[in-house]
Amino acid sequence: MSRAVLVIPGDGIGPEVTEPAVLALAATGADLEFVRGDAGRHVHARLGAPVDPDTIARLADADAVLFGATTTVPGAPSAVLALRRALGLYATVRPCRSLAGFGDPRCDVTVVRELTEDLYVQREHEVEGGAEAISLVTEAASRRVARFAWDLAARTSPRRLTVAHKATILPRTQGLFLRAAMEEAERWRLAPVGRLADSLAHDLVRDPSGPHLVLAPNVFGDILSDLASGIGGGLGLAPSASHGDLAPLFEPVHGSAPDIAGKGVANPTAAMLSAAMLLGELGEEKRAHRLRLAVEEALADPAARTPDLGGRAGTRAFTERVLAALAG
Ligand code: NAI
Ligand code: MG
Repeated sequence: MSRAVLVIPGDGIGPEVTEPAVLALAATGADLEFVRGDAGRHVHARLGAPVDPDTIARLADADAVLFGATTTVPGAPSAVLALRRALGLYATVRPCRSLAGFGDPRCDVTVVRELTEDLYVQREHEVEGGAEAISLVTEAASRRVARFAWDLAARTSPRRLTVAHKATILPRTQGLFLRAAMEEAERWRLAPVGRLADSLAHDLVRDPSGPHLVLAPNVFGDILSDLASGIGGGLGLAPSASHGDLAPLFEPVHGSAPDIAGKGVANPTAAMLSAAMLLGELGEEKRAHRLRLAVEEALADPAARTPDLGGRAGTRAFTERVLAALAG
């Protein structure tokens, strides 16, 4: 049965990297129906909302969402946050692995980031002499993301999960997150490891060989996953999958890159690897594997590399190289 993929390209380089990812998905032969959605700066200018309401209405019927990137309009609601809320997304998985010799070849780090709480509840206000921000951590959200991460750990080899935290200085909020993760671990009969986020960051830079699976609260997860993707070869190569109440959403970790938008030089690797995660999630692991191999083959060819990787090829040439590898 054909599965519906809602494609939301966004703005900036979002459409430039999403279209190649759609072409790559189609070339794997997976039985997918692509439905179009719209979000981003142009939607905000037209409708005063970052995501087209028709797109929001279609989320419920999608089996998966493929998202590009959108530019944040200062003072306006963010499209990414609107999509996260509409889909009830609560856990993001960001695998950071060296590919085709880029980055530290040892790098094998996957970060599971809580997506709904912590400082990202955006509750800031002025106090005398400064300002304060609230970090919200609840038992329910901590346990939910912990169950997701333990379930992933149980299906990964070795069956191990590290919980990043700072419970030493924030025993109530961070301590709650850590305790919830540890208690949920019992159900899976796995030995939990708690690590202070700062010393974990240090150790990952020194030795990123894994596999490491790291569960982190929202802010540390954001930082640790960018850190790990930097070790693994850069933002241009880093994919992500977010899970929640409705369809999962797949997107490159990078943003809309206004500095190179419209120039035809964006690297579609992260979007294509996000598409590979989408295939895996829909039970198409063989096709996902073929797509990853095709991307690696293209990256290994100096003539196909985009400028961010030191090459001179454009987005189209790189995409054609991937499609050729898929056809071969
Ligand atoms: P960015 O990730 O868009 O760009 C950072 C740097 O990496 C730039 O020099 C850019 O040219 C380069 N880069 C990023 N992706 C690339 C690719 N695929 N190929 C080649 N080079 C690439 O981050 P930045 O500049 O901080 O943010 C730009 C806009 O994107 C902002 O409005 C930001 O809020 C938004 N953003 C949106 C995200 C999303 O939609 N999920 C995530 C992160 C940022
Ligand atoms: Mg970030």
